[in-house]
Amino acid sequence: MSGLVEYEKYGAIGVITVNNPPVNALSPGVPEGIVEGVEKGVADPDVKAMVLIGAGRSFIAGADIKFLGKPRSETAKNYREIIEGSEKPVVAAIHGYALGGGLETALGCHYRVAVKSAKVGLPEVLIGILPGGAGTQRLPRLIGPEAALEMIVSGRHVPATEAGELGVLDSVVEDGDLRNAAIAFAEKIADQRPVPRISQMNEKVTNVDPAIFDAMRKKIERRARNQIAPYHCIACVEAAVSLPFEEGVARERELFQEIVNGDEAKSLRYAFFSEREATKIPDIDKSISAVDVRLAAVVGAGTMGGGIAMCFADSGIPVKLLEISEEFLDTGMAKIKANYETSIKRGSLTAEGMAERMALIDPVISYDDIANADMVIEAVFEEMPVKKEVFAKLDAVMKEGAIMASNTSTLDIDEIASATKRPEAVLGMHFFSPANVMKLLEIVRGKNSSKEAVATALKVARRIGKVGAVCGNCDGFLANRSRMPFQTEMNILIEDGALPEQVDKVMVDFGYPVGPFVVGDMSGLDIGYAVRKRRAAESPNEFRKLPIPDRLFEMGRLGQKTAGGWFTYKKGDRTPHPEPEVVKVIEDVRREMGIKPHDFTDEEILQRLLFSSVNEAAKILEEGIAYRASDVDIMWLYGFGFPRYRGGLLFWADQIGVKKIYEIMCEWEKTYGDRWKPANLIKELAESGKSFADA
Ligand code: 3HC
Ligand code: NAI
Repeated sequence: MSGLVEYEKYGAIGVITVNNPPVNALSPGVPEGIVEGVEKGVADPDVKAMVLIGAGRSFIAGADIKFLGKPRSETAKNYREIIEGSEKPVVAAIHGYALGGGLETALGCHYRVAVKSAKVGLPEVLIGILPGGAGTQRLPRLIGPEAALEMIVSGRHVPATEAGELGVLDSVVEDGDLRNAAIAFAEKIADQRPVPRISQMNEKVTNVDPAIFDAMRKKIERRARNQIAPYHCIACVEAAVSLPFEEGVARERELFQEIVNGDEAKSLRYAFFSEREATKIPDIDKSISAVDVRLAAVVGAGTMGGGIAMCFADSGIPVKLLEISEEFLDTGMAKIKANYETSIKRGSLTAEGMAERMALIDPVISYDDIANADMVIEAVFEEMPVKKEVFAKLDAVMKEGAIMASNTSTLDIDEIASATKRPEAVLGMHFFSPANVMKLLEIVRGKNSSKEAVATALKVARRIGKVGAVCGNCDGFLANRSRMPFQTEMNILIEDGALPEQVDKVMVDFGYPVGPFVVGDMSGLDIGYAVRKRRAAESPNEFRKLPIPDRLFEMGRLGQKTAGGWFTYKKGDRTPHPEPEVVKVIEDVRREMGIKPHDFTDEEILQRLLFSSVNEAAKILEEGIAYRASDVDIMWLYGFGFPRYRGGLLFWADQIGVKKIYEIMCEWEKTYGDRWKPANLIKELAESGKSFADA
């Protein structure tokens, strides 16, 4: 047997164990090993049935993504058919995950037994491909095309209990000894003939209403715009109901080949690995022990503090929430309650779930009450003196070893840490708004932050379901600093002749969920105004004034909260309507600045916005604020809604080519001035023919 798959005998049952840590992906050698095991069982007269199981934490998490689209052995191409063809029954025993090729392997088996905590699914669409191991042909035959379509197009991980109800699983057993449960199951069915083969079950795929496919296409229209994989998934299930099994499989293979090495799949694979890469910090290895956070604390129960407390409660971690007075505490707790109530109304939370979460949040007003917490996150007003006062108090009370984080979005982490006698325990944990929804957690490593502090923040990020990415300390940190030029440029575009609705349309067509001007209206024009005021005071010479949004703010057009900002909104409706009053402000400013407005192409708008940020991201890399280009991409994907199927800001830039971007920037520097001077790194990469991925 290959070292990746083992075979043992338990009485009359042959047990084939896949052992390819960490997740038993189907790397070269695994399918071949499984086939060897099945052949051994079939050849052994003492063996009546077989069990296929995974060692370690999972059954099989799918094809090895690193090898997707690369040549495979004939056995690897057909191993599921070989398993299914076995005259002796094979039982898949599932724990952890049976995903993608993992579930397809289980569907090639004759029976499936899983523990309650297991999850199954065909998530290929999430990495820009389709289930290419006959999953689109077998699943509809097993559970019907409608349920299969939903699973395949959403890519979601289906809990075992639900999978049992859907008919994916034959038996769901208690967590514990899966091996024995599966052997017992195999003994029970060992003599049943004929062995059930899904490829031969045609009842559920005949006389299917073809309208379900167009209905699904319509349903995903908005979410899947610019993408191919979701539509190819639908086409495959359509083939399952209109073609015999073998022809359906051939169609699936054909469509799989068409997209497996396409831009969408490459970008999504890149995003998958980048997300995992972001948790690897060069000087922090597994020997660094993270603090086990069993009790958390949050200071400040405002917009962010309340959301952060919810993150802990949602993950089952008790959290103390501290405010300056009972009155502010009550307001904060009422907001949290209202948020949970909205989730109940939407059907994503039960009343019991809400009660459990609320019980985990303990509102307090004394620092002594939080002294025992393993980690505290400060989310008070964005003012240095207030932050320093809070950190001095935390330093006085927090137990030894506690990690002390600030959720500041702009202030210097090192200065905040200087208010304590233990700057090594201090770092930034920058959540994005709304904190309980947005997935990004930007972890800011101050000059004294300890490795343990960073490791703890990364571990907490994972536990509370966030995507953690680490950067160094600078104004705006990585995410907001790299985004700032985009924010400025969108305003300059308006001065130069574009209109907000035109810019928004370009960015939505590119793949953003909403355009940047609508985002501005959602967060409020007061936020940008305050930042500009601070920056103007700090560095008056470098600061670029933005008269249009300043004027809108001064007119009281603060965004959706005042029914109007860049656009006007009708009561109870968030549809943006262009506003003549705003156009007048834009035209006034253009006239006062002596600008002759010109027309913009969509490409020019897109490039002006994104290249400005590419330039800043290059400076961030150059300064060592980011560990790698892919961390910038992760922050843009999870913090700013950059379309995942385009990989991320710098991955997208690499597809255009750094050299080409450099040349365009040099031209723009001549036309528009200094702000387009290419970063040194861009110049170097362009001249050496390299990409950001090489940087
Ligand atoms: N291929 C290669 N590596 C994989 C992998 C896969 N399918 N799945 C996980 N890994 C690696 C990760 O990169 C990570 O490596 P690292 O430690 O070096 O960073 C390690 O396994 C552990 O992964 P996670 O940190 O993600 O572990 P979690 O416990 O958080 O999550 C999981 C486990 C839910 C299985 C998650 O890893 C996952 O979603 N994996 C991908 C599942 C998937 O997409 N399967 C379909 C693959 S495509 C396919 O099967 C095509 C077929 O139809 C032909
Ligand atoms: P907020 O004004 O909604 O809430 C701040 C809360 O802190 C208030 O409830 C206030 O009573 C409380 N507070 C003030 N001083 C305190 C003290 N000494 N002790 C205890 N509580 C005190 O502010 P918001 O928006 O929640 O911001 C908090 C922090 O999060 C700021 O540093 C901000 O820059 C940062 N941030 C904000 C984001 C946003 O979109 N609002 C996004 C990311 C970070």
